[in-house]
Amino acid sequence: MASQHKTTVGTIQNEVLAFTAGKDVELDYALIEADCIGSAAHATMLAEMPLTPPLFTDSELAQIKKALADLILAARNGQFVITIEDQDVHLAVERTLTEALGDLGKRIHTARSRNDQVAVDLRLYAKSQLLDAQTELLALASSLVDFAAQHQHVPMIGRTHMQPGMPSSVGLWASAYAEALLDDHSIVQNAAQLNDRSPLGSAASYGVPLPIDREKTSDLLGFTAPIHNVLHANNARGKNESIILFAASQVMMTLSRLAQDLMLFTMPEFAYFTLPSEYCTGSSIMPQKKNPDVLELIRAKSSRVMADAIAVYDICRAAPSGYNRDLQEAKEPFLRSIDTTRASLRIMKLMLDGLTVHQDRLLAAFSPDVFATDRALELVGQGMPFRDAYHHVKEHLDELQQMDPATAIAAKTHLGGTAGLNFDLYRNSIAEHQTAIAAQHQAFKAKVNALMGRDIY
Ligand code: ARG
Repeated sequence: MASQHKTTVGTIQNEVLAFTAGKDVELDYALIEADCIGSAAHATMLAEMPLTPPLFTDSELAQIKKALADLILAARNGQFVITIEDQDVHLAVERTLTEALGDLGKRIHTARSRNDQVAVDLRLYAKSQLLDAQTELLALASSLVDFAAQHQHVPMIGRTHMQPGMPSSVGLWASAYAEALLDDHSIVQNAAQLNDRSPLGSAASYGVPLPIDREKTSDLLGFTAPIHNVLHANNARGKNESIILFAASQVMMTLSRLAQDLMLFTMPEFAYFTLPSEYCTGSSIMPQKKNPDVLELIRAKSSRVMADAIAVYDICRAAPSGYNRDLQEAKEPFLRSIDTTRASLRIMKLMLDGLTVHQDRLLAAFSPDVFATDRALELVGQGMPFRDAYHHVKEHLDELQQMDPATAIAAKTHLGGTAGLNFDLYRNSIAEHQTAIAAQHQAFKAKVNALMGRDIY
């Protein structure tokens, strides 16, 4: 007979255990803090549940919270182990509590299931990750606005189809990406708001016949509200992660396009900009090389984040209602792509902050034909119908005069044009979001510290 493993929840054949636990024994390290915090909230609520005798006395609850806080600190020092017999972080935490506190540890799982436990862990994890990601996104947007303001009057050819089109500016180019990131911020914010609700107490998917207080746990954890329907609370696992990853893929799309522009404009044939050499990599054979590997990887990783979003979406798409183990497979792409998105935001800011602008090269790229549209519109200003002006210029392209690029970009004074950009609009919006995110971060930390009875954060 094949060898078997004794686990907290029964004896399982070795290979089945390894297959079903899968990568949880590695991945769940990311969820330790959330699992302990969620458990502290659950225990607090259980202690107040109207039962005689109560499930936990005040001093027992204090012992549980202390053990959970100790566990968080031990984990930070690499002293917490999830074994294959544990299967996942949830049973590892229960085992550790039981080793330390005996019956108190064995009571902690009253009125909950690993299903609502992992769902609340993922939401707590996502909540703090999304706050950090938003902070990083806003820092990059702010760098882009500063860069744009600094080079507001530096002319740059505006391209369509990658071909020279009309006079434009470095300020317009860079602040376009800042505005794109602000759009992405709204999408991430929406995902964060949906995420900010507690599934705890939904248990296996169908609630429990005990007078639990789901609002209490939601409030203790700093969520805006409990997810109302207990079945939906479980069905929303995976869907929630997929919404977050779709938001992340929008961020990555913006970063990928910015990376693509930078790769193009830093090619020696363009040399509009130079990348900071300390962020470029060399070649093992060509001694002179300084390659934009960071940008190439952002371009490739944007594809992987989208693929992860689709993987999570597709795992849920086919899942019947109620918990299904399929959902465990959504964990890896979710954790990975949050990491990737945050790392990409941080490194793109480094690249941008070190970018050198070569005004001479930007100006040298202007040939007379770039002014064709401006010339046609000049004729319109003198009374000629646009289509006639268009044909007139088209027929006399070789006679086009080189105009001054600086004058050309100063002439587009309308809203959002090269001379009509309102950087304060961006700055105010970034500052407003930054204040809001900082306040949310503070509130979340205060909630957790109050719950744990110790400064965890
Ligand atoms: N590791 C599991 C997951 O991520 C935890 C929930 C297990 N629940 C169960 N009914 N087997 O989904």
